[in-house]
Formats: sequence, structure tokens, C-alpha cells
Amino acid sequence: MWPNRFSLDAIADSEFYKYQQEFFRGLVQDVSDTTYIYAQLFSYTGMKLPYIVFEGVVGSGKTTQSKLLADFLKEKFPDRVLWTREPGSGEIPEAIRKVVQGTIYDEIMDPITETYLYAASRAQTLRKIVKPFFDMKGIVVSDRSYLSTLAFQGYGRGLGLKTVLDINKTAVDDLLPGLVLYIKVPPEVGASRAKDQKGDKFESQPIEFHHRVEKGYDDLSRMPFLKDRFVIINGNSSIDEVFVDVKRETLNFLKEIKYK
Ligand SMILES: Nc1ncnc2c1ncn2[C@@H]1O[C@H](COP(=O)(O)OP(=O)(O)O)[C@@H](O)[C@H]1O
Ligand SMILES: [Mg+2]
Repeated sequence: MWPNRFSLDAIADSEFYKYQQEFFRGLVQDVSDTTYIYAQLFSYTGMKLPYIVFEGVVGSGKTTQSKLLADFLKEKFPDRVLWTREPGSGEIPEAIRKVVQGTIYDEIMDPITETYLYAASRAQTLRKIVKPFFDMKGIVVSDRSYLSTLAFQGYGRGLGLKTVLDINKTAVDDLLPGLVLYIKVPPEVGASRAKDQKGDKFESQPIEFHHRVEKGYDDLSRMPFLKDRFVIINGNSSIDEVFVDVKRETLNFLKEIKYK
């Protein structure tokens, strides 16, 4: 939808673009024209999809809360709710997940390879699973989205937003989350919760990595093109207490987009 709507020249001339340039100058280090242009494009997507995604550092409760929410919504809207995860959901994305997130290889994966693999999984999940479900008027609840790769590879791995956005542009296209539930816990708390689990390779990263990821999410939650889709959830309380907030924000959102 969005790539054809505005010419890049028109965007570069607009007041809003100039304002965003100022905004981004103080916010991210790797600012480039491409980043601004993408940001601008992302801001013009218009209608919000019933696409609810969970984001946050490792161990913040994304998987727990996204499953609770999907079950809750399934009771309200039978046959109209789908839970997905990134990477994953579907045979091919799950196979990619094993390669990108597994700990079975001795060889170190280059961060660029990692970013392409996440984007490849995302392209498949969004086109083959998520998009068809929206076409049938369904709600999708997802454990992670493209925002994860901006935070983990862009900030955590240090690739920067431009590189990660470039790789993801065609994978994401216009399938942007309508509501981002960003569960916020101190990275130390998340890491200690996650330690007991089977684990993927991020769980063994040093704590500085998780702090960079947190910075990424904090920056993203304040960006002009994203902030009206972000809700910050305090993830420090019990699972039940967090879920009260998750439910309230979701129902408010569905009301806002007049989902029926
Ligand atoms: N609010 C919470 N308080 C305490 N433990 C939690 C809470 N939410 C989740 N957990 C536990 O912490 C671990 C990580 O949760 P998970 O949902 O897998 O996080 P994420 O998917 O964000 O990495 C799990 O063992 C889960 O049961
Ligand atoms: Mg998880």
C-alpha cells in the first residue's frame, strides 16, 4: 500500500519530514536519509490492523502473555483469533527458527546473516499466514514482530536501524502491528527469569547486550511513526497482574479500531 502513495521527493520536501529529521538527530546515532524516509513512509500507513504484537527484552513475558491473550480473545471471538510467533509459525518459518535461534552450531553466525534469516522467516509468516487471516477479518496476536529485529540486531548487535530496515523493507511491506504491547522489565530481571529455560542463543548474551536491546525498544516507543501504536506495560508484577493491563489495553485498542 504505502510504497506507491507518496513520491520520495515529496516526502523530502515536507514539513513533517523536516521535523522528523530534527527528532531523529537527537535520538539515534546512525541517522541517514534512508532512515528518515522509511520513518516517514511508516507513518503513512493509515488504518491500524487488528495485529497485536508483544515486544520486550528476553524474559519479559512475551510468550506467556501472548498465549494468555490469544486464549482470552478466542473465547470472545471464536475462530477469528490466530497466535503466531516470530520467527516461526508455519513449516518454513519454524525451520528457519531452528537455524537462526538454535544453539547447535559451533560456527558463529554473522549478524547480517542473522538479520536476513529473521527477515526471511518474517516474509513467509506475514505473507502466507498473517495476511490471509486479516483478509478473513481475523485478529492476529504475535509473540514478536519486525520491531524485535530493530531492537536485537539494530541495537543489540549494533547494526543500526538503517541496515536492519533496508533488509526488512520488502519482508514487512505494509503489514505493520496495530498495537505493540511493550512489556518492560529491567534486563537483569528478564535474564534471570529466562535462565531456567531451555533457552536460545540470546539468553546467553552478556547483560550489556540486553541493555542495548532495551534502549532500542525505548527509542522505538518514542518515534513519531510508532509511538501511537506502542503501549508500555509494567512487566514487574505477577503474571496475572500483567495480564490485567494486557487485556485492558487490547480491549481499548479493539474499540479504537472498531473491531467487530
Ligand atoms: N510476570 C512474571 N513474573 C514472574 N515470572 C514470569 C512472569 N512472566 C513470565 N514469567 C516467567 O519467566 C520466564 C520467561 O517468560 P516468557 O514469557 O518466556 O518471556 P519472553 O517470551 O519474553 O522471553 C518463564 O519461565 C515465565 O513463566
Ligand atoms: Mg519467548
